[in-house]
Amino acid sequence: MTVDAVTVGLGDRSYQVLVGPDLLSDAAARIAPFAPARRLFVISDHNVLRAHGAKFLGGLRQSGFAVHELALDPGEASKSFAGLERVCGALLDGRIERGDLVVAFGGGVIGDLAGFAAGVVKRGVDFVQIPTTLLAQVDSSVGGKTAINAAQGKNLIGLFHQPRLVLADTNVLSTLPRRELLAGFAEVVKYGLLGDAAFFDWLDAHAEAVLAGPGPERTYSIVKSVAAKAAIVAQDEREGGIRALLNLGHTFGHALEAETGFGERLLHGEGVAIGMALAFQFSERLGTCPRGTAERIAAFFRRVGLPASPRDIPGFTPSAETMLDHMEHDKKAQGGQLTLILARGIGHAFVQRNADRAAILDLWRAAL
Ligand code: NAD
Ligand code: GLY
Repeated sequence: MTVDAVTVGLGDRSYQVLVGPDLLSDAAARIAPFAPARRLFVISDHNVLRAHGAKFLGGLRQSGFAVHELALDPGEASKSFAGLERVCGALLDGRIERGDLVVAFGGGVIGDLAGFAAGVVKRGVDFVQIPTTLLAQVDSSVGGKTAINAAQGKNLIGLFHQPRLVLADTNVLSTLPRRELLAGFAEVVKYGLLGDAAFFDWLDAHAEAVLAGPGPERTYSIVKSVAAKAAIVAQDEREGGIRALLNLGHTFGHALEAETGFGERLLHGEGVAIGMALAFQFSERLGTCPRGTAERIAAFFRRVGLPASPRDIPGFTPSAETMLDHMEHDKKAQGGQLTLILARGIGHAFVQRNADRAAILDLWRAAL
């Protein structure tokens, strides 16, 4: 079994992201160095446990670990104060101590929530990420951002807490609904669009193979994405500079998610896909990016089954002013100024501060 390893280089907090098939089978041995007391607190959701719980938890118990488990309801609503209270309560009821390990076993919701709980309980305990969605494997499990949502917005309560290890088992993606797989694929494409034109060209040629099922193309795309994110996080852990490029498409995308209610109507990755198409359209309008680039990207998204325009969201008819308003409430707006990630071409993203409100309104008017 081939296992690829990517290191997130953060000095004495460095860790490895392992990517490969069937990593769940020997997860116990890989986790063991980080759980000297041999007690694990596995946080997951019902969907993930139904599909993979018996194998994963059974393997841990057979290896002699004492395993506490907590299953939350699937979905964004669990990333809440109530969800945090449940997770912290379970950790404290189980008398978690230093030497014990929190294991986030699920998608980005579980990773963000369990990671945050691990960061605050008893002023911080160690945790590992076992991401089970494509989005979580290529993005949310890497880099240490953890958070819950507040009534005022998404991801507004959180902290940086790096995992000790990430195990991305490519086989677990076989049970992921196609729509979730595609949403994660948008984040894979993001790495090509923001910094690696050759990777985007490769994805253009191999997208169908990546999406078809487990295989070398899928693994390659995950490893390449993780390596891209690791390189950025190692340079700028706290998002003082270059890490902001990872937000390509996100300010437009968050506005779309906010207007659609942060739910099933538009998944995060779908919002990011449309948002990236809009970011390239805006770049073309400003003259920083060659004409035709946005259309190439939109055609690619549509070919693989992703939305590429606000018009691809059924029944979506807000005003341009409403969409700009959402963007100004995004946490990336500072001092009333909008910061956007724009591009000089595929693979060449840059940070644009003080983006022009009137020009953004015009873009929304044309796009809606
Ligand atoms: P998710 O965790 O809600 O998972 C999506 C759905 O797939 C859920 O219903 C889940 O139960 C199900 N599922 C998970 N794994 C499965 C599997 N292997 N088989 C079958 N079903 C499975 O969503 P997500 O897209 O993984 O993550 C979205 C969250 O990630 C958002 O809250 C977002 O804010 C966050 N996020 C965080 C970061 C970060 O850097 N921390 C980055 C990007 C996104
Ligand atoms: N998903 C954006 C980041 O990790 O910075």
